[in-house]
Amino acid sequence: MIASQKFLAATPPMGWNSWNTFGHHVEEALIRETADALVSSGLKDCGYGYIVIDDCWSIKDRRDGNGDLSADPEKFPSGVKALADYVHGKGFKLGIYSDAAEKTCAGYPGSLGFEEQDAQLWASWGIDFLKYDYCHAPLHDQAVAIERYTRMGEALRETGREFLFSLCEWGNQSPHLWGRKVGGNMWRVSGDVFDSWVNIWMKDWNTYGIGVDVSIDIANDLHAYGGPGGWNDLDMLVVGLKGKGQIAGTGMSFIEYQTHMSLWCLACSPLMIGCDIRKLDRDTASLLMNREVLAVNQDALGIPGRRVKQIGPCEIWTKRLADGSTAVAVINRGPRGEDITVKARDIGLFDAPKLARNLWTQEDSADFKGELGLRVQPHETILLKVT
Ligand code: GLA
Repeated sequence: MIASQKFLAATPPMGWNSWNTFGHHVEEALIRETADALVSSGLKDCGYGYIVIDDCWSIKDRRDGNGDLSADPEKFPSGVKALADYVHGKGFKLGIYSDAAEKTCAGYPGSLGFEEQDAQLWASWGIDFLKYDYCHAPLHDQAVAIERYTRMGEALRETGREFLFSLCEWGNQSPHLWGRKVGGNMWRVSGDVFDSWVNIWMKDWNTYGIGVDVSIDIANDLHAYGGPGGWNDLDMLVVGLKGKGQIAGTGMSFIEYQTHMSLWCLACSPLMIGCDIRKLDRDTASLLMNREVLAVNQDALGIPGRRVKQIGPCEIWTKRLADGSTAVAVINRGPRGEDITVKARDIGLFDAPKLARNLWTQEDSADFKGELGLRVQPHETILLKVT
């Protein structure tokens, strides 16, 4: 089936989320300025259409007398409804965050037991997207996870408003197997991705922060489960954080961020920007706004790419595209530059010659007659479209 734009998340959702840079410091002025900057930078025209308020937006220690969540009046002095109107006026959709337990990860009120009430409230504000987290909920009980997400999915549906439902359960209980059934349009498949090539051990949480290198394996393992309407979510982008975000990590090189972006596009992951786009630098803009690369992510077939060959530390990935062409990536996960020959038969193509276009540099390589030799730098991904 070829996806059309007629249903929600027909292609992977794109947007911006407050968490990676701002954490607790999410507020109305930031959201308005971000909406403005998404327009002026050209990011909106590239498809980044959701603006998501992550954790820490409500009054922290209580619900109001009616049991409703209230936005923190110091952070959101005009209220979320007025903010939604502003964001909608600029052509965006607005997202909000809660958790399937008593408290969110940062200790704000969660929605367990208040699903219908909270969904109605968000609908009345004009919210279009819910990221639903799983802190303080049982980690090893799939039935409970399914039940809690089902309950919120139903509550959202009952409002009659269209909500994109983003499950943030980190993959512990295989949400790729049941995410669609509970109404989910995307489901996280790992813990939080940090601004780092390798995993980082987090002593306080007794777990690893995920690095981009490991996400390559996760994306390959789960490639079969993503598709139009429901996507494997590799987490928000760390492109552009450069070690300055509020999430951990020392930052990555330009080449590593390019591999990160290439992988998220190949894997059909949602693309939620995590950096401060009011201060977008050239390098970051070039990674977030390459339309030929984004087209691989947003391709109408919606078939996530996968690894087809390993050559030492290098991997060849392919992704079928709607126009009959194939996206081909060569990823070098090793510490040294490598010379790699991509053979037509490795990528499932037999009729030579083909045209290979390098999507990052936007250059056409020579005709691809049976094989193509490439020099791939350490941690680099060369992304081609073979027609
Ligand atoms: C979890 C999620 C993150 C973010 C934080 C907020 O760690 O995985 O994406 O939403 O909670 O506290």
